[in-house]
Amino acid sequence: MEIDPQRIAADLCYKLVIGCVVPRPIAVVSTVSVDGFPNVAPFSYFTVASHTPLSLAFTVGGPKSDGSIKDTLRNARFTQDGGVGEFVVNIADESYADAMAKTGESLAHGESEFDHSGLTAIPSTVIKAPRVGEASVAFECVTTHVIPIGAANLVIGEVKHIYVRDGLVDDRYRVDAEKLGAIGRMAGNDYVRTRDRFEIRTLGR
Ligand SMILES: Cc1cc2nc3c(=O)[nH]c(=O)nc-3n(C[C@H](O)[C@H](O)[C@H](O)COP(=O)(O)O)c2cc1C
Repeated sequence: MEIDPQRIAADLCYKLVIGCVVPRPIAVVSTVSVDGFPNVAPFSYFTVASHTPLSLAFTVGGPKSDGSIKDTLRNARFTQDGGVGEFVVNIADESYADAMAKTGESLAHGESEFDHSGLTAIPSTVIKAPRVGEASVAFECVTTHVIPIGAANLVIGEVKHIYVRDGLVDDRYRVDAEKLGAIGRMAGNDYVRTRDRFEIRTLGR
């Protein structure tokens, strides 16, 4: 089958890409609005953008069905654009998977996904946006780029502080993948655990 993405509808491109680009790690992004309201939502269009400077990237899709922009983008965008210019990437894991999925449900602006999901907003260390208390890893970021891609926006932030739960990282900064229990997103409502790993030894490693 040969497919020209220009010739198929956007929802079919979406189905194809979320079925093929798998598994996708999930950033549970917590933010705060200019008037101090906390927000949290999951994003699987998410990756590391750079490690010098340490930067993370995620993409916020087009507007909600009512035409308004997603609260995460509203809050994470630069202050001159009406945002706070900060966000926290909390790594999604098995221990709060159901609550994470609840934060993805579309609520009206001003309704708290923290209340809706039962997740706990706790103060971050160096930024105003809260982190998720249930997450074992949280990257506190200051927004450095907001790049429009069609109706979507790629948001990149530089990591200013990292919270890692005690016992998860050894003295050589190696993360215990079993303890982290990160999850990833497949298509539709499907997710994966990260317990089925295998090793490939290459020269020098
Ligand atoms: C696991 C998961 C991954 C998601 N990934 C994305 C994504 O990468 N980009 C996006 O725009 N929405 C994504 N969503 C949908 C948003 O989380 C959803 O639109 C949410 O309501 C946005 O909340 P906000 O308005 O508080 O920012 C995802 C939802 C789930 C459950």
